Amino acid sequence: MRQTPEKLAVKTRSCASSYPVFIGAGLLGNAYSLIAPHTSAQKFLIVADSHTAPLFLDEVTSSFPKDRKTFSLILPAGERHKSFSSLKRIWEKAGTLGLKRTDCIIALGGGVVGDITGFAAATYMRGVDFVQIPTTLLAMVDSSVGGKTAIDFARTKNLIGAFYQPQAVIADIAALHTLPHKEILNGLGEIAKYAFIENIADANGKGILWQKLKKGFSLKDTARTTAIIKTCVALKAKFVKDDEHDTKDRRIFLNFGHTTAHALESLANFKLSHGQAVAIGSKVAFDIALKKGLIDAATHAEGIDLLKGLGLETNLPKGMDMAALNSFMLKDKKNKGDSLRFILPTALGKAEIFDLQPPTLNLSL
Ligand code: GLY
Repeated sequence: MRQTPEKLAVKTRSCASSYPVFIGAGLLGNAYSLIAPHTSAQKFLIVADSHTAPLFLDEVTSSFPKDRKTFSLILPAGERHKSFSSLKRIWEKAGTLGLKRTDCIIALGGGVVGDITGFAAATYMRGVDFVQIPTTLLAMVDSSVGGKTAIDFARTKNLIGAFYQPQAVIADIAALHTLPHKEILNGLGEIAKYAFIENIADANGKGILWQKLKKGFSLKDTARTTAIIKTCVALKAKFVKDDEHDTKDRRIFLNFGHTTAHALESLANFKLSHGQAVAIGSKVAFDIALKKGLIDAATHAEGIDLLKGLGLETNLPKGMDMAALNSFMLKDKKNKGDSLRFILPTALGKAEIFDLQPPTLNLSL
């Protein structure tokens, strides 16, 4: 079913104007007409992966008129391919096709494809037009918006990258129906995070997202799914507008739950999904906040109930090597000096930044 897309504008200092995020069902077959007003490109390189290409590439490609040349590159799927060798393949393909600075590279896929393709677009000829077509819930609510692009390097997630904003983002929620349930949970971990920081971005916020999520999440309800994704993107756009390059202690709130999550993912060799790791990391943040007296037991219980109600796991994996986890956390990009930066809840929908001395996680055990 095709619907008129919702449209949100993301404004940043590095963009002369804002860029649109389109959200709706059945947008892929209309991709070119949504992209066209935002680029003067003649050639388009669509980068997909071995999961997304068979599902969506034909539909996107056939939306382009004959006088616009489209090409594709299909990368192997998975976090371990968010690598220099995938990046090099995009540069080589762009070079072989003779892409010019005014041409456009499109990412068609989840966060891995979006992040590598964005970094390739940022660096090929010092920057070509770039469009994000996220096909996972996680990418729709987080990685496709805000301009963070990267590859993993030296066993470290997102070590090499750039801030590079897209010309447009197209989130077709019909694509979500192709995802296995664990991929939906992956997105829900990040969606719950927005509920935990909602009232920071919006001083008049009344926990609208939290209330919506308490009723659960079902793809069958297209209007509600669209509204939830739209709320998350609108919240993200506010943090990004205030602090595009993550240097002003503002965008960092998007990292609620992430100090523990990134360490967990590294320890699990990225076999634990990001959103699931964020859910566990959020529980850790609630636990530490309770121990520190920042929240009362009722607020703590509400936070954990929200995560569990969405079907997310909240406990650290059994037998977790806590010394190794603490030591991975010490490598976190957000840390100041030898302390660990945590975003901790102080009320429903509110949080503050804390620099804690390791071994922090003993607090939560
Ligand atoms: N995913 C966190 C951020 O975009 O800043």
